[in-house]
This record gives sequence, C-alpha cells and structure tokens, in this order.
Amino acid sequence: MDLDQAQRAVLNVLAQVSADVLPRVIQWMRHSSEIEDLLRSNADVLLNCIADDLRSILPLEAMVGSENQVIDIIQSLQRPTLHVDAFLYDDDTVDALCEEGKMSRNYCMSCGSRKTAPLGEPYTKHISRFPPDFISHSFSLVELKFLFQKMLPDLSGKTLVDVGSRLGAVLYAGCVYSSASKLQGVEINAEFCQLQEKIIKKYDFTARIQVYHSDICCQPSLLHYADVVVLHNVFEYFLDKEKQIKAWTIVMENVRKTGSLVVAVPSLEESLDKLQMNIQLDKWVEKVKLNPDIYTGSETDEETIRQIHLYRVL
Ligand SMILES: C[S@@+](CC[C@H](N)C(=O)[O-])C[C@H]1O[C@@H](n2cnc3c(N)ncnc32)[C@H](O)[C@@H]1O
Repeated sequence: MDLDQAQRAVLNVLAQVSADVLPRVIQWMRHSSEIEDLLRSNADVLLNCIADDLRSILPLEAMVGSENQVIDIIQSLQRPTLHVDAFLYDDDTVDALCEEGKMSRNYCMSCGSRKTAPLGEPYTKHISRFPPDFISHSFSLVELKFLFQKMLPDLSGKTLVDVGSRLGAVLYAGCVYSSASKLQGVEINAEFCQLQEKIIKKYDFTARIQVYHSDICCQPSLLHYADVVVLHNVFEYFLDKEKQIKAWTIVMENVRKTGSLVVAVPSLEESLDKLQMNIQLDKWVEKVKLNPDIYTGSETDEETIRQIHLYRVL
C-alpha cells in the first residue's frame, strides 16, 4: 500500500465511525501507546531502509575516493585500525560478513596485513568504537536511539547541528526519533553531501533537514543559533593538527548560547587534551549528569553509549 492508498484507507475507516465515537477514536490515534509503538518501530524500519540504500552505494569500508587523506591518517596510526561504519554494519552484520570472508577481523600486529593474528575478544565484542583499533565513522542505530530517546530532552522547536554529518545518520534519526524543527548537517566532503541530498529527497525529509557543503569554520552562524551541536569523531581523522585547532577554536567561540547542549564523542576533554590546547573548558561548558537508569540494554550497548558525552553551555 503506498502513501496515497494508506491515507484513503484510514479516512475511509474514520468515515464509517459513528459521530459520537469519533472524538475518542481520534484521541486514541493521537495518544495511544499502541500507535506510539507502531510509529517507533516504523522509525527503525525507515532507518534500516536508509542504511540498506547506503550500503548498496558505498564500498564495505563506507569511505569515498576523495578521502585519501583519511585513509593515510588511519594507516599511519601506530596500531592497525579497522574502520567500520556502525550505522551501516551492526555487530551481527560484521560477524556475518567475516564468516562470508568479505570482511576480516584479523590483522598482523606488526605490518597491518590481514593474514594473521586475530584482533581478540574486545574487537569482536565492541565494533562501534574501540580506539585506536576500531573506528566507526557514524553512530550506530543503538547509539542514535539512545541519543534522541534518552539522552537529549524534548527538542520541539529546537535546532540541532551535526558538525561533519557524513552519511546523515544523525539527521535522519533526529527526524524520526525527535521533534526537532531543524536538523542541519555541515559536511566538508562533497561526495557525502550529494549522498545525503539523495536520501533526504527520497525519504521526503526536506522540510526539516538541511545539509551544507562547507567547512564548519565558514559556518559560525549555524553554531551560533544551534540548540544542540553534535561533534562525533569529527576532526581527528580528517584534519591535520593545525586545522583541528582552528576548527575547535571556531566551535568554542560560536557555540555560546547559554543552555545549549553539546554532544561529544570522544569527550571534549580528550579531544582538546590531545591537541594540547590550553583551554579552560569549565568556563565554556559543564558536564550534564545523566540519570544512571537511562543506561539499560546489553553490556556491549552500555559500554558504547557511555562514550557519548553531554555538556551544557554556560
Ligand atoms: C566521524 S564522521 C561523523 C559522522 C556523523 N556525524 C555521525 O555521527 O554519524 C566526521 C565527518 O566530519 C567531516 N569533517 C571533518 N572536518 C570537517 C570540517 N572542518 N567541517 C565540516 N565537516 C568536517 C568529515 O568529512 C566526516 O565525514
């Protein structure tokens, strides 16, 4: 059934409901947990469809030809590093691909060849982020649900900016899991911007999602007006040290709206310490203490989502 047919079918049913019952039916449609559950699981199905589309376009490592510099950076890391896009490939899919011989968890610890030593237990348990050996370029579905359904407050009327939006996973999840009015992605790589535009058009997200092909350093006003800013592994593997320092400086100078939120992976402390930036973080943001009850789910999921840090701008 397509959208048009579905809308007509629903209206047809409503037209048959007796007038005295109709208000209660409409009330039920608006507020029932059954409809809510249905919408929630529809959101998961939609995101899985998007991931399917992206998997069919991108190579297994989910990187594009214009990312030569990123590949060089990853290859120059001291320990061999495998990169998997956690939005496209969850743990089970990685296992299946390894079994089919299409992906390998095995690396020689001295030269990086995939022919010898297994990466070991932690690698098979935690695919999404196990630095420096496992890098994910996108949030996984589990992380996105946690972010929008548990970590962030109600985003009605709010604007979220994803700095380095890549495949657009944060933006699509924000569209289906939150009431944010604007979801803005800024992505320096043109190929990823085109990919995001394709998905936005196909899934009719144009009213709420905008993607800017730009360096974040050229978009200070987006940062200025944002209520939520997402910074997920954003600069480290993509820019040289000098450019990273410049980008962080622009972020800190422009994310200034009191009460606005910053979502960071890794923590701001870790990112800035690595760059030896002499910053007084506590003059800019405070860490938001989260209710421990929100960390439910499997041990692996908990370990992954605990790496997502939330800050409030002072
Ligand atoms: C690890 S990905 C984050 C993906 C996405 N935000 C998510 O969480 O699923 C980081 C992205 O930031 C982009 N990027 C790096 N430096 C940037 C800059 N200065 N301005 C805009 N985008 C940048 C990279 O091209 C890359 O696609």
